[in-house]
Amino acid sequence: MCGIVAYLGCREAYPILIRGLHRLEYRGYDSAGVAVLNDEGKLNIYKAVGKVSNLEQVAEGHDCSGTIGIAHTRWATHGAPNEANAHPHISQSGDLTMVHNGIIENAGGLRDQLKAKGFSFRSETDTEVLLQLIEYTQQKHGADLASAVRSALKKVIGAYAIAVIDRKEPGTIVAARKSSPLAVGLGEGNSEFFIASDASPIAGYTNKVVYLNDEEVVVCRRGEPLYITTLNADKVDFRTKEIDLDVTMLDKGGFPHFMLKEIFDQPSVLRDCMRGRLLPAHHRIILSAVTEHREELIGAKRYLMVSCGTSWHAALIGKQLIEQFCRIPVEVAYASEFRYSDPVVGPGDVVFAISQSGETADTLSAIQMASERGAMVFGIVNAVGSSIARASDTGTYIHVGPEIGVASTKAFTGQTTVLTMLALAIAREKGSISETDYNDAITELEQIPDKIERILAKNDEIKALAKEYVDKKNFLYLGRGMNFPVALEGALKLKEISYIHAEGYPAAEMKHGPIALVDEDMPVVFIATHHNLYEKILSNMQEVAARKGRVLAIVSEGDTVVKGIAEHVIEVPPTANFLSPLVSVIPLQLLAYHIAVSKGLNVDQPRNLAKSVTVE
Ligand code: G6P
Repeated sequence: MCGIVAYLGCREAYPILIRGLHRLEYRGYDSAGVAVLNDEGKLNIYKAVGKVSNLEQVAEGHDCSGTIGIAHTRWATHGAPNEANAHPHISQSGDLTMVHNGIIENAGGLRDQLKAKGFSFRSETDTEVLLQLIEYTQQKHGADLASAVRSALKKVIGAYAIAVIDRKEPGTIVAARKSSPLAVGLGEGNSEFFIASDASPIAGYTNKVVYLNDEEVVVCRRGEPLYITTLNADKVDFRTKEIDLDVTMLDKGGFPHFMLKEIFDQPSVLRDCMRGRLLPAHHRIILSAVTEHREELIGAKRYLMVSCGTSWHAALIGKQLIEQFCRIPVEVAYASEFRYSDPVVGPGDVVFAISQSGETADTLSAIQMASERGAMVFGIVNAVGSSIARASDTGTYIHVGPEIGVASTKAFTGQTTVLTMLALAIAREKGSISETDYNDAITELEQIPDKIERILAKNDEIKALAKEYVDKKNFLYLGRGMNFPVALEGALKLKEISYIHAEGYPAAEMKHGPIALVDEDMPVVFIATHHNLYEKILSNMQEVAARKGRVLAIVSEGDTVVKGIAEHVIEVPPTANFLSPLVSVIPLQLLAYHIAVSKGLNVDQPRNLAKSVTVE
């Protein structure tokens, strides 16, 4: 949902800003823009519709010099994705320029008020309204940039992460945030500041980062220490965090797309996710959050899980894991529904927030509400230091490294791995699992990365299979029990990147509607591995085959029965029922990927989607 980058220092700003935009492009790619203030005090602004590479072409051969600048990659909310609406925006006088991620909800009213005072607008954006409001405040009160930003922000309702430059103060960037993320990287001494929507544009330059809190305004001034205040200008003491971001994770590493790289990353990142937590030699799973919050966790009446998208599918698996092992009831809610449902939640409840980015606006609001009502919030997050991680009382990072491909893959298996370790760790504390089952579970879980490697070795086979399905208009994905959420996830992957309509369904529910859609042109993907509901799912498969549906089945190695019914099968290594999603989802990720690539689509940046949804 838009990415912003800003730089002030002694190096040329433009290459740093462009590199930062490439790293943030996963947040939106409707348009991109950059503004650099050169040594003569001239603001050079370049914009282009579409990707950052288009912007580079536009700027090529023009003056991009200067050691201070701001840049933006946009996911459109207010106004069409055209050049006029692209950021950075410029104020009426031409002195101020600003980039913004978020939504100003009262922009309409403010725009009318500013028009009445003589301001005119070049774009349809809420951002330009905020910028003109800052300029109006400066002019009316003779204020410096920082004071004008503070007063203007007090008048807006909504979400923002902004960075502003004023030609009249050429050594200053003012930035601020509310409900949209913003990090400030501190370079050497007081001479260098990197501002960005997440730490990825900062990585490689410095590992010292300050994460702003809501309604904080930061002033980066050449030669002076970082200065943070509230909107009321009260000074804020901030903490610097050391980031440990593996910069190689931010590159494709020889793969044609981030999505494929991230699919192939899964064995190694899941080992990272388990490292130091799953201790097979000691027959233990140690999660510090469980140790520190043992009483609240085992004493809870029930758990709730809130999340969106793929993370919601992981929550559906987490529910089954926790109910099976811990015998604690779990409710799963879409964060966007939960927050407006006046939920019955309070002391004694534990609310798990599951989020790759840690910035999803609905999930963040849902946990803020749960917290206000007295529940304990437990974050299961990938992005270290993100808003959801910081708003949680405790939590467990999934530690799978930055996920750049818009379609989530390794985050899903990372979330599922953490939820599995969590369920087992809580069950042991609660005494709801036998020592033998606990030890067997640890042994099985440890083997998962090796099993995923065996599935990845079938990449060429799945690629060839994908070609047979490229022209299909609809897909049905069916699974039961632990594999019902995998059916949902398989369908989501396909529709996100290939634009083929796909539905995930519990296999038995199919008889209550979707079976009417089945004919010889309808591919039906069954997850039919050897598990407790195997016989049941065979019957469901027969029902589809009898109606000439084209069955593609994910089966356990050595299965011969399904081969007699299905048109195609993909074998996966056998594993325990509770771990089955971690293997059965892998061929579905690859299938979606190869279908989309065969259709010539950009799988890393599918149309209309954004990786991090920081607006509701
Ligand atoms: C977007 C992404 C999905 C993701 C969902 C939730 O829709 O495209 O991949 O699952 O947001 O994001 P989160 O970061 O909270 O897991």
